[in-house]
Amino acid sequence: MIRSKIGGIGYYVPETVVTNDDLSKVMETSDEWIQERTGIRERRYGTKHKETTTSMGARAAEVAIQRAGISKEDVDFIIFATLSPDYYFPGCGVLLQRELGITHKEAAALDIRNQCSGFLYGLSIADQFVRSGMYKNVLLVGSEMHSMGLDFSTRGRNVTVIFGDGAGAVVVQPSEKEGQGILTTKLHSDGTYAEKLAFINPGAHGGYHLDKMEEEYDFGYDYDQKYGEIFITDKMLKDGQIFPNMEGQFVFKMAVQKFPEVINEALDEVGLSTKDIDMLIPHQANLRISQFVQKRLGLTDEQVWNNIQKFGNTTAASVPIAFCEAWEAGKIKEGDLVCLAAFGSGFTWGSALIRW
Ligand SMILES: CC(C)(COP(=O)(O)OP(=O)(O)OC[C@H]1O[C@@H](n2cnc3c(N)ncnc32)[C@H](O)[C@@H]1OP(=O)(O)O)[C@@H](O)C(=O)NCCC(=O)NCCS
Repeated sequence: MIRSKIGGIGYYVPETVVTNDDLSKVMETSDEWIQERTGIRERRYGTKHKETTTSMGARAAEVAIQRAGISKEDVDFIIFATLSPDYYFPGCGVLLQRELGITHKEAAALDIRNQCSGFLYGLSIADQFVRSGMYKNVLLVGSEMHSMGLDFSTRGRNVTVIFGDGAGAVVVQPSEKEGQGILTTKLHSDGTYAEKLAFINPGAHGGYHLDKMEEEYDFGYDYDQKYGEIFITDKMLKDGQIFPNMEGQFVFKMAVQKFPEVINEALDEVGLSTKDIDMLIPHQANLRISQFVQKRLGLTDEQVWNNIQKFGNTTAASVPIAFCEAWEAGKIKEGDLVCLAAFGSGFTWGSALIRW
């Protein structure tokens, strides 16, 4: 049976560095608070009107394509994961196709909305397509321009200080070498707590989910209004209900439980254990979460790659950026066992084991 491998990997982060001190000039926060709770020192922000989620994804994709030894026209399927798309619709997949100039008639593009685990979901889809023989060069991109959709007042500080912009990409191809490539991917979801980490407005919910939630949540919807005002109401704008919301401690507790679970599940399936992992690349949610997971799995500092200190949480881009950085630093060599894992909004989570 054909196995798939990562044939090329690349990342792009915008130039502008935003430090914790920079944020403390616009909201009530401090470098000390942010570093102590999250490990983050700085993050990058894209330049408005010059960069978007799609354009950053394209820059990362160009590097991955070149390293895969193919041309843009060889890409037969595009998968784009993001929670900060350029448009409500169409998705970034086709925008990236246009930006890269992929014009051949067999090309197809798919968008994924799985937030922090979007890259893992995308990798699993790419793996299935390549293994089935349907596609030979699947371009998978994770990219986020969070800085366009965050609340920069003190009200939004618990979310805003965490997130940064950036993009990562891989080309998934058939593997020619016995034993090399993606060994397994594991995906999970549980919608019970969908609103604990969410960007609810604008949306077409019209208040529908209210009944399904444990506690009352003000969606900013005018229930007396018969038509119109469905996507964005004056109240939403006035009360800042057009930004992401997060119950940080709840998310933290779920994350530290699900990361080890899904990593062990993948290892069990292929008959390996944590001591076989050469490099764990966890989604960069919070350095404290990564440290907790590392300790729980009994891994050394050399076995885990973290870069949240420099880039913050870049959601769908965080795993491929960290993966690429570790590879560029020479920390991933042929034959190494690489473990990827992510957890995020949904909740959705997943893992992958790759023999490099
Ligand atoms: C977000 C997170 C850092 C917050 O840390 P925490 O210790 O849980 O903090 P809390 O939300 O309980 O808030 C504690 C206090 O700090 C304040 N606070 C929140 N954000 C702040 C900030 N950026 N600067 C200063 N104070 C802040 C709160 O208002 C609260 O103040 P109060 O006690 O006066 O009410 C932490 O919960 C976390 O990282 N959770 C996981 C988030 C995550 O990984 N999300 C992505 C998943 S993919």
